[in-house]
Amino acid sequence: MAGRLRRRGLTVSTLGFAMLLGIASGVVWIESSRSADTGSDPLAPALVEAVGKQMHHEACGSCHVAYAPYFLPADSWHAMADALPEHFGVRLRLDETERRVIVAWLLAKAADVGGSVIGAEVMARLAASDQPGRVTATRWFRHRHLMISRSTWALPVVATPANCPACHRDAHQGIFDERSVHIPG
Ligand code: HEC
Ligand code: HEC
Repeated sequence: MAGRLRRRGLTVSTLGFAMLLGIASGVVWIESSRSADTGSDPLAPALVEAVGKQMHHEACGSCHVAYAPYFLPADSWHAMADALPEHFGVRLRLDETERRVIVAWLLAKAADVGGSVIGAEVMARLAASDQPGRVTATRWFRHRHLMISRSTWALPVVATPANCPACHRDAHQGIFDERSVHIPG
């Protein structure tokens, strides 16, 4: 996977849009980015809703699928965000605006918050002691993929369970239904 790692920058248009919205929704953008270190200044939910998904796709979908927020509970996203820039052996550099919007968006739509069907399934299988640091470490993920054999997981084209598009051809579009699944080998 490492060979394919790359990092796309945030497009100017997204940032411009975010700044515009920030002003329109009453967030004084310069102020909020100045106090970003403390993180005390909450972002406007409308801003997060408007640009969060696209920012997440651009900043978190270049090395792997931009894993949907409902695959993990809010605590897990929190822990991951707190651990940046260290991220599974790579250094993840996000500018402060990007980081704050993406984290707010992930938290707002996390498995235990967002009200999605898959999120509810993920939570239903989560034990109180579980603190999954990965989508692929959740009991839900393991249960949902019990039919996959060890030899399939070991195929070079799969390489890691985190490589969703190896089997879910439309994973980049967030589609995981049965019709788009193709087990290699
Ligand atoms: C520079 C490349 C890179 C970028 C950009 C990146 N990641 Fe990752 N991410 C990785 C690597 C490498 C792994 C480990 C993959 C593996 O073990 O197969 C990983 C794993 C993950 C996993 C766990 C996957 C699993 O096994 O369930 C999550 C969740 C995740 N990243 C979220 C994010 C989020 C959120 C962002 C954006 C803030 C992001 N990533 C951006 C490289 C990246
Ligand atoms: C080795 C192949 C493989 C990999 C890799 C894989 N999956 Fe799957 N996944 C499957 C199969 C097979 C099913 C079962 C399809 C069915 O319901 O018959 C499935 C089911 C699912 C479902 C349930 C679909 C539904 O309609 O209920 C979701 C969601 C899902 N996978 C997400 C993921 C995510 C997210 C990743 C990456 C972190 C991933 N999968 C990686 C093969 C894979």
